[in-house]
Amino acid sequence: MKAIVFTEFGSPDVLHIKEMDKPTPKDNEVLIKVRTTSVNVGDLWGRNFKAITPSKFSMPFPLWLPTRLYFGITKPRINILGNEYAGEVESIGRDVKRFKKGDKVFGYRAQSMGANAEYICIPEDGMVTHKPANMSYEEATVVPGGAMTALNLLRKVNIQPGQKVLINGASGSIGSAALQLAKYYGAEVTGVCGTPRLGFVKALGADKVIDYTQEDFTQNGETYDLILDIMNKSSFEKCKNSLKPKGIYLLASFKMKQIFQMLRTSRSSGKKVICALSNETPKDLEIIKNLAEEGKLKAIVDKRFPMERAAEAHRYVESGNKAGSVVITIG
Ligand SMILES: NC(=O)c1ccc[n+]([C@@H]2O[C@H](COP(=O)([O-])OP(=O)(O)OC[C@H]3O[C@@H](n4cnc5c(N)ncnc54)[C@H](OP(=O)(O)O)[C@@H]3O)[C@@H](O)[C@H]2O)c1
Repeated sequence: MKAIVFTEFGSPDVLHIKEMDKPTPKDNEVLIKVRTTSVNVGDLWGRNFKAITPSKFSMPFPLWLPTRLYFGITKPRINILGNEYAGEVESIGRDVKRFKKGDKVFGYRAQSMGANAEYICIPEDGMVTHKPANMSYEEATVVPGGAMTALNLLRKVNIQPGQKVLINGASGSIGSAALQLAKYYGAEVTGVCGTPRLGFVKALGADKVIDYTQEDFTQNGETYDLILDIMNKSSFEKCKNSLKPKGIYLLASFKMKQIFQMLRTSRSSGKKVICALSNETPKDLEIIKNLAEEGKLKAIVDKRFPMERAAEAHRYVESGNKAGSVVITIG
């Protein structure tokens, strides 16, 4: 089989196609013929984690060290990227009950990656389930990562119908899913993003959109029950006046400073900081599959690239210009 491989950390040019052995499923595994995979922030990190210093890392230092060890100190430990995938079951191990040959499936590999290849094996009770019937392979591919993370983050805050929610970074993978989930929970949602993506965020269902290059949302006098800051681009200090008396400042990316703020505010009956880590499960994949089938989660594919042009796909994501997700078509 063909796979997109890299053996050195570096620019997108380290990615190349290599002929590899086709994997064989164990008794509890399905062999999936991958049709589509995606490129997201995790892939950029994995490809060149050597260049991500603790200060460039968007999470606290105690998490940087294990991440560095995981991705490799001088050479990559993971040689095939890709954490989201959609495809078709080609064969099954003898104990597999949930799937049969020909089933259309999608799923998530998290940090183990490996979906930038023509075939992958996944345990049947892992992050794999039937593809939403109303979505193409491309669309299904780009749902799991952002949506499962957003689902996990929003679980920490229990959004109530009618609450006002602001998402700072609403045009990205996690933010665009969080926006749709917050709308699903009945919130009134303001999405903050850059100028080129205002229309995209509006089309996802935002009640209001704010362009962070033109307006500082902390200065407009509006108050929110929840401010979800995806990239830690604002701060609790700045957001305090934009939070309602029991408002929450929820962070998807954070440093030790925000963890101390979380500890400090945890016993307060007033405004709180929450730094949340997502811990996705196969059950979450089922939930987002159902939401996608109900039309509550849309997938917007911005560009697609054949696997031979994976480097170009990485360059495009790295440019910060994507509006929606970037797909690699396999085979
Ligand atoms: N907590 C967890 O468990 C967890 C899990 C996975 C990932 N993460 C973190 O999530 C982050 C990646 O999120 P993602 O995949 O959604 O990234 P993404 O797809 O690259 O999106 C980044 C978002 O940030 C916005 N942004 C950029 N500059 C901004 C600014 N100055 N003010 C406001 N928004 C700004 C972008 O808006 P425009 O594009 O419109 O400019 C875009 O909406 C990483 O930092 C990662 O560490 C956390």
